[in-house]
Amino acid sequence: MSTAADRAVFQTVARHFTRATAFSGKLAGQGAVEHSADGATVTLSDGRTMLDFGSYAVTLLGHRHPAVVAAVRAQLDAMPVSSRSLVNPVTAAAAERLVGYFDGLLPRLYFGLNGADVVEAAVKLARLVTGRPRVLAVEGAYHGKSLGALALTHHPRFRAGLDAVLPAVTHLSADDPDAVAREVAAGDVAALIFEPVQGENGVRALPEDTLRAWCGQARAAGVTVIADEIQCGLRRCGPRSVALDLGLPVDALLVGKPLGGGVMPISALLCTDELYGPLIEDPARHTATFSGQPLCAAAVPAALDAIESLADHAESVGERLGAGLRRVAAARPGVVAEVRGRGLLWALDFTGDAVAGEVLVELTRREVIVSPCLSAPTSLRLLPPMVATAQEVDHVLATVEEALAAADFACRANPAEVTG
Ligand SMILES: Cc1ncc(COP(=O)(O)O)c(C=O)c1O
Repeated sequence: MSTAADRAVFQTVARHFTRATAFSGKLAGQGAVEHSADGATVTLSDGRTMLDFGSYAVTLLGHRHPAVVAAVRAQLDAMPVSSRSLVNPVTAAAAERLVGYFDGLLPRLYFGLNGADVVEAAVKLARLVTGRPRVLAVEGAYHGKSLGALALTHHPRFRAGLDAVLPAVTHLSADDPDAVAREVAAGDVAALIFEPVQGENGVRALPEDTLRAWCGQARAAGVTVIADEIQCGLRRCGPRSVALDLGLPVDALLVGKPLGGGVMPISALLCTDELYGPLIEDPARHTATFSGQPLCAAAVPAALDAIESLADHAESVGERLGAGLRRVAAARPGVVAEVRGRGLLWALDFTGDAVAGEVLVELTRREVIVSPCLSAPTSLRLLPPMVATAQEVDHVLATVEEALAAADFACRANPAEVTG
């Protein structure tokens, strides 16, 4: 039920953002807006609660993890923004902790706020270091929407009308293990960038053999290897880094989304001394006003500590959810085409995008939040927080089972409308 205050919020959103944003949010909250959140639970303006297995991969620690909130609160009282003329110890400590978290393999660091910030920084450095213009990305890739990052993002929906201003990028098929060797032959390729697990593309892990072959071919040609783990890293898929866990020879690793503990916006590029060369020569070559500000940096050590302390529990959450999703999906073959995932990153792939939409509506009606996939409209993502309890996982699974049954019924009752 909408109150007058809620209706005013929807009108304001429609007026200053878009009607579509207001409408989809109204549908998701059934007329209510979000009010507060804690752990896996979001409380709405009408007092109802929703279980959050979505939030586009930001809330790996759930909402308002107490240790992260405490660290940020203390920094707020001390010094939220840096003078940037002086050196800040909180920012330095966050950098040292993050480099150590990945065993010191990539000793140099640049902080951004969003994922796209560090995608841009990595590609810029690769082009400066190699002196070459082209970049190789992967079909289905999602790396963000600022112009440089958008050049790497594959889906035509986001690129339409902008191709002329996007830097030169070639998208490789994951079924082609020799693609990098072929593309680098002309000597004009600066970097290869990939997501070891493509989240926005419906949770598709790239084949390990292909990644190994590509990285080897890139290395042999002096091409910078960039692993974008903004979504799949930091234990979302189990290891701290999927690429480093596979032993891939990466020059740069990108993390973001949950790096600020689900409380603050912060992302990071970690890289080799060599790739960082242009900044060692001239630190002003890549800067941003809010890069590494202490309020955001304060969240990082607290977030990494919390992630490590929850790692074992998270493994059991992922196993329980994955096994449950396979079980409920197997009972509805006309609705679910495939279940994909690992760790705390799962996708249900449906028999059509209208079916995915139907299931999304049924889930939100039953107060469960999941994330649609920007590049794969037939898929819905389930991104449980590490703090989810077995009861919360079971509740979501029971709700998915009900939503699939409702979608199955709708498919049978009106197949043209739902599968069309
Ligand atoms: C793998 C990956 N890279 C980059 C981005 C872009 O991050 P942001 O939206 O924070 O700019 C995303 C966002 O979903 C992502 O999943």
